[in-house]
Amino acid sequence: MAYKIAILPGDGVGPEIVNEGIKVLNSIEKKYGYEFEYERALIGGAAYDDCSNPLPDSTISIAKDADAVLLGAVGDWKYDTLPAALRPESALLGIRKVLNLFANLRPVNVFDELTDASTLKKDVINGVDIMIVRELTGDVYFGEPKGIDVINGERAGFNNMIYYEKEVERIAHVAFQTALKRNNKVCSVDKANVLDASRLWREVVTKVSELYPQVELTHMYVDNAAMQLIKNPKQFDVILTGNIFGDILSDEASMISGSLGMLPSASLSSGAKGLFEPIHGSAPDIKGQNKVNPIATILSVSMMMKYTFGKDNAADAIESAVKSVLKKGYRTSDINYGADNTTVVGTSQMGDLISQELLLI
Ligand code: IPM
Ligand code: MG
Repeated sequence: MAYKIAILPGDGVGPEIVNEGIKVLNSIEKKYGYEFEYERALIGGAAYDDCSNPLPDSTISIAKDADAVLLGAVGDWKYDTLPAALRPESALLGIRKVLNLFANLRPVNVFDELTDASTLKKDVINGVDIMIVRELTGDVYFGEPKGIDVINGERAGFNNMIYYEKEVERIAHVAFQTALKRNNKVCSVDKANVLDASRLWREVVTKVSELYPQVELTHMYVDNAAMQLIKNPKQFDVILTGNIFGDILSDEASMISGSLGMLPSASLSSGAKGLFEPIHGSAPDIKGQNKVNPIATILSVSMMMKYTFGKDNAADAIESAVKSVLKKGYRTSDINYGADNTTVVGTSQMGDLISQELLLI
């Protein structure tokens, strides 16, 4: 039976990184005898250019129909002046919402080969292994009312940070269950000293934690968490947080791994179905230059194997192939720190090297 994968390249460097992800999927087919069937669809600015809608119905139905979605990135400066609902980013939020992908897993690991690529000291980041569990379909990203309006004779922009109990409950369960498979620690990050939405968040997370007595729950304010991530990232196992805090903290945490170009993500619903994308954006400044690091996307394919298809072997093999190519000294420019015995390669070479390595290990 063939597995159906929807391919949504998007904008900027999206098409380039998705191509490298597909090379890796092709190697997985060869190596394990699986069969993947791809269906491509437009999203973001690419879709807007085609039909004045960043998230066409046809894209939604292709994504709904697939077992998994591989997404590149969306966004380009040229759409900056469009109304919010037509911007490429609204398509990404829209697809997350229609597929009910409320749980966003963003693992932060450091490859030994890249400890020098980080701006942080080696002994601070060596062996870091964090899973950020970010709530993805609520919070100030989706809360109503929102808009730009004249209030008391003056223009004002507003969004509503709102979390419903059920939303907090279900993401808390994901975090605790994730911790059970790891080191049994959840740190819930909020701003409960100021925000009502966070006070409810903290209360609900604490209540859910009673069902997981094996897991140690701590709470941390987001400003402190931002600092602690740099000071001592090894203190964290699972970080559970809301949509906006998770967005910010995961970009920060990516620098522990050496580059924003290294961090993958899985966006999951209650079933196995998921959307897999790098955490980075569309980087229009380096678009089409064969320069972007495809590893975040390739590691997202690894997460697809694990979370949607339950193929842990394939997932592990992809990670090993990445590790082995890094060990041989190949680097894209974002992770090249000028060490001896390294070779700087472009996007497609990196994808070739990793997909070939996969067949050898
Ligand atoms: C991310 C991105 C998106 C987000 C943008 C592109 C809408 O920054 O996936 O982290 O804010 O969720
Ligand atoms: Mg982000």
